[in-house]
Amino acid sequence: IKVQDYRPQAFTDFTLPENVKAYQDALQKVRAELVGKHYPVVIDGVVVETAEKIESRNPCDTDELVGTTGKATPQDAQKALDGAWKAFESWKKWDMDARARILLKAAAILKRRRLEACALMSIEVGKNYAEADVEVAEAIDFLEYYARSAMKYAGFGSSETTWFEGEENGLMSLPLGVGVSISPWNFPCAIYLGMLAAPIVAGNCVIAKPAEDAGLIAGFVTEIMYEAGLPAGVLQFLPGVGKEVGEFLTTHARTRFITFTGSRAVGLHINEVAAKVQPGQKWIKKVVLELGGKDAMIVDETADLEVAITAAVQGAFGFNGQKCSAMSRLIVVDEVYDAVVNGFVERTRALKMGTGEENANVTAVVNQMSFDKVKSYLDLAPQEGTVLLGGQAPGEYGGQPGYYIQPTIVGDVGRDARMAQEEIFGPVVAVLRARDWQDALAIANSTEYGLTGGVCSRSRERLEQARAEFEVGNLYFNRKITGAIVGVQPFGGYNMSGTDSKAGGPDYLANFLQLKAVTERW
Ligand code: NAD
Ligand code: ALA
Repeated sequence: IKVQDYRPQAFTDFTLPENVKAYQDALQKVRAELVGKHYPVVIDGVVVETAEKIESRNPCDTDELVGTTGKATPQDAQKALDGAWKAFESWKKWDMDARARILLKAAAILKRRRLEACALMSIEVGKNYAEADVEVAEAIDFLEYYARSAMKYAGFGSSETTWFEGEENGLMSLPLGVGVSISPWNFPCAIYLGMLAAPIVAGNCVIAKPAEDAGLIAGFVTEIMYEAGLPAGVLQFLPGVGKEVGEFLTTHARTRFITFTGSRAVGLHINEVAAKVQPGQKWIKKVVLELGGKDAMIVDETADLEVAITAAVQGAFGFNGQKCSAMSRLIVVDEVYDAVVNGFVERTRALKMGTGEENANVTAVVNQMSFDKVKSYLDLAPQEGTVLLGGQAPGEYGGQPGYYIQPTIVGDVGRDARMAQEEIFGPVVAVLRARDWQDALAIANSTEYGLTGGVCSRSRERLEQARAEFEVGNLYFNRKITGAIVGVQPFGGYNMSGTDSKAGGPDYLANFLQLKAVTERW
């Protein structure tokens, strides 16, 4: 297969009026064509009408039903598993090239429909234009990147072995079988698509279980995969409730692998049930987990404070802090604490609240459960620190009911406080005061998570120390700690943040392959 080298998609410049106009046109098109749509369960390429449906609501206007998906039952999941194993018999024999072409074709279609995918997410999960745009760019990047990665594993001898007299030796990379991909609502296009495209291009079949709050965008990109030529049965589209079909599939004896991105609690539960061998099960399930974070950025007294404040605002409040990578702890050394915190508060105060469709800086959090959870931390905030900004959860904006929470900054939070240790997953930042640089690094490493982290400093020595000792999977210096780009910053965390599988990295596909060493004596 002849393809040019991988290059990440460029982001759209929304300071240009023509790009804003194009986005607004796409919103109208999506409202006319996709809002109100039903995306059914699809098993073996055939639509399955389920007795119940899952409703997807606009978080920025909860009166609005955006659309529905099917709600698969365990019986549907069983059919999907059976069908996927059947499809595996032929899919595993396809050339890597041929499988990769389907991803490249899907990338081409998604490029053409990029604005529609963005607009749909603005309505379904409340992403503003730039947040939706970088996400769809990432989704395209995953397809392009994994298509090229697949080439590395094609054929006999694809991985290096040492020459040995009188024999031919080589390694074959073979797919695992049928797996289940369970994804979150916060990157419902990119993570959903990346987590199914990687195992599929490696020759596996996948049952994709999207998040309940974002089934429409999942249905939209699933249709693109089918349009690109994916054979029926290779990708089973199974919207449903995590505790029902998710649980059924992760415990099932015939599930070969599980790729999961979501919360620590659900991820650890899946790890536990997957480890239990079921009657008739003949393999150890492979489990890839990408979980939460309690990500910190350190600012020391040598830092360019303007750079640090910009990085803090971007890292904390992009998509309302609903990113596993979001900066939820700002750790500032005492000497510059007041200057940094004052600047951070002032810059955050300028953020505009509103809907995704209006392209507001801060929109609504995704659902009632999130709203209640984040609100419980707002209630806790005065006991654990000083509320410097925000602190309220109005639950409406401009007369529209929605899960709105004010961007909130809480100063002088103790290092062991719940707000400094637990993932909040909303627009709430705990600011911690450190005595000095060494103290700041110790605070940063004091949680059980280890996803992203950052340091703003001009000290080469300190940056090098952080490079070695900051316990995170993705570390950033003198910039925001969110926004990893496929291939550029392979993504995944340490400790309770996951299995560090590095999505968008050179070895990600290896998670879904098994190696066979074959020797022939001449
Ligand atoms: P969640 O854990 O509530 O749900 C994730 C998925 O798991 C959903 O599809 C859900 O239906 C399913 N699920 C729920 N219970 C299940 C069960 N018992 N068995 C099988 N599946 C089940 O997470 P969420 O609220 O959708 O997403 C937010 C979380 O995801 C945050 O903690 C965030 O940090 C994390 N996240 C991590 C990364 C990463 O790369 N590390 C990326 C994005 C989000
Ligand atoms: N990959 C996403 C980021 O880096 C979560 O922000």
